[in-house]
Amino acid sequence: MSVDTKTQLGTILVVDDNPTNIQVLFDVLSEMGYRVAIAKSGEAALQRLQSYLPDIILLDVMMPGIDGFETCNRLKSNSVTSDIPIIFMTALSDSVDKVKGLSLGAVDYITKPIQHEEALARIRVHLQLRESQKKLENRTIELSQALESLKQAQVHLVQSEKMSALGQLMAGVAHEISNPVNFIHANLAPAEEYIQTLINFVELYQECYPQPHTKIQEWMEEEDLDYLKEDIIKLLNSLKVGSDRISELVLSLRNFSRLDESEAKAVDIHEGIESTLLILQHRLKARPDHPGIKIVRDYGQLPMVKCYPSQMNQVFMNIFSNAIDALEERDKKRSATEMKENPSAIAIRTELLPNQMIGIYIFDNGFGIDENICARLFEPFFTTKPIGKGTGLGLSISYQIITEKHGGKISCSSTPGKGTEFAIEIPV
Ligand SMILES: Nc1ncnc2c1ncn2[C@@H]1O[C@H](COP(=O)(O)OP(=O)(O)OP(=O)(O)O)[C@@H](O)[C@H]1O
Ligand SMILES: [Mg+2]
Repeated sequence: MSVDTKTQLGTILVVDDNPTNIQVLFDVLSEMGYRVAIAKSGEAALQRLQSYLPDIILLDVMMPGIDGFETCNRLKSNSVTSDIPIIFMTALSDSVDKVKGLSLGAVDYITKPIQHEEALARIRVHLQLRESQKKLENRTIELSQALESLKQAQVHLVQSEKMSALGQLMAGVAHEISNPVNFIHANLAPAEEYIQTLINFVELYQECYPQPHTKIQEWMEEEDLDYLKEDIIKLLNSLKVGSDRISELVLSLRNFSRLDESEAKAVDIHEGIESTLLILQHRLKARPDHPGIKIVRDYGQLPMVKCYPSQMNQVFMNIFSNAIDALEERDKKRSATEMKENPSAIAIRTELLPNQMIGIYIFDNGFGIDENICARLFEPFFTTKPIGKGTGLGLSISYQIITEKHGGKISCSSTPGKGTEFAIEIPV
């Protein structure tokens, strides 16, 4: 019989101290095309199995040294050998042994003196079973890998959908606002000039005609012309501040969406952080029922960083939004005095690290995160927020952006009751 057929049929380890039994089994099994290995004691079998794993083991019960049961026990408690099917060989009358063997994890038994046909039939069945089991295990691994990639693909899809929808919306809004704001902005200076000229003209009139007609005098008093002259300049100034602010916002929206930049680009990371904060301004500033969230900046000297700017902004957006959510949630339960004594704050620190890396650390002094939740933060769809409030994708997307897209690291450390810090490190 050829070697190939032998390997195909499988390898069998026979463990028996009786030379006659060994000889008989060796002859019969080799004849059928199995590859046969021999061990003359339990110890020898355990030794052999360290370097060689058969497809099935025929194990004698009664042996000097460690007996078949103990050998079986040790094989089953070792993860390397625990899967190999074991068939006990026991004397015909020993029903106690048969039960004990099966309860120790053996798949079957054959009785001595050995009936060749029966033994071969049982070996064949168990080898086939093992083969199917292996196939099933491989298939399960393949399937769970496929499921994992499917989940990843889904996260990618949702991420790119979310990003492009948000980016397009922002770029659209920025573009639409940009023109009218420019009108206002550009016309404010001449408007101020014209108004000043009119005021000068009125003043000149007053100088030349200190005693105007009573009708004019009455009208001036009624309309409080002096106050109007003073106030219109202040009013113009606040119009200027307002239009400057809108222009800044438009710039930030553009910066944030950066739709035109799908390529990696060297940018100022602080600019990205600032434009994200500006977009979140409405959630940070004080309201009648809330003192607002303080932003503490500790920016280091950073070089320009080569990155995907819109994706980095998305990461900042996710982390800041989570911090604001946590701080708002906590403040719902605090009194005005408590909020005043320990104001809600987000601290942002950046620094240049060795090895051409930069670190961005974002800390909030909110309620913190329990240890068991900490471990799951970056899992897709993990959220503790009510349905409709959180999708649980923010941090998993951020994780992918930082690790896969930028070759960096993102981690979270938290002390419950004290606060949470997210640390981002990316190469320059
Ligand atoms: N600063 C923080 N303080 C406390 N808990 C936090 C903080 N940041 C994240 N978490 C916890 O991590 C969970 C997952 O955050 P993640 O941003 O991935 O999803 P989400 O905010 O729930 O939903 P969304 O997809 O809308 O962002 C949150 O539900 C929250 O429990
Ligand atoms: Mg979130």
